Amino acid sequence: MIGIDLVYIPRFTRWLSYSDNQLLTIFSCRELEECRRRTPKEAEFLASRFAVKEAFYKALSTTCATITHIQPFGLRTIARFVEITPDARWGCPLLLFSAQEFYTATGIRLPTLTAQISLSHDHDYAIAQVVITLV
Ligand SMILES: CC(C)(COP(=O)(O)OP(=O)(O)OC[C@H]1O[C@@H](n2cnc3c(N)ncnc32)[C@H](O)[C@@H]1OP(=O)(O)O)[C@@H](O)C(=O)NCCC(=O)NCCS
Repeated sequence: MIGIDLVYIPRFTRWLSYSDNQLLTIFSCRELEECRRRTPKEAEFLASRFAVKEAFYKALSTTCATITHIQPFGLRTIARFVEITPDARWGCPLLLFSAQEFYTATGIRLPTLTAQISLSHDHDYAIAQVVITLV
């Protein structure tokens, strides 16, 4: 299943003034640490990571829509469990999501899945596309 999201980067400049506690409802600790290393491109970093989370949520919604026992939940429930990390050799982004970790934290059982990600940003916009495959 596929999900895509396009975001306007300047919208995230305001997010840089939010407290860590507010940001941690969407982003992980590792992402906030990485964000601080991205000076002066912190807004671009937050924007592209947020686009990843929305694209993942859309792909996951489409996946879950075919599984009747999973009750719908919002983006905020899952956002902080979705992270990306660069591949050590090629630098391409790899999406990290653990259905087990999500279950432990929320009690929501999702199927085991893998997700592929592609990201791009240019001037004011960032875009992310996610493809989820059930294992
Ligand atoms: C899905 C969501 C992330 C979309 O993000 P957005 O930035 O507002 O909107 P975008 O422009 O990126 O995308 C809009 C498109 O996403 C699609 N879309 C909406 N909800 C979707 C979902 N759950 N999964 C996949 N695609 C979805 C729609 O087709 C929409 O286009 P349309 O209005 O022309 O039909 C956002 O609407 C959201 O968080 N929805 C969940 C709301 C929620 O928490 N619901 C609680 C359920 S219990």
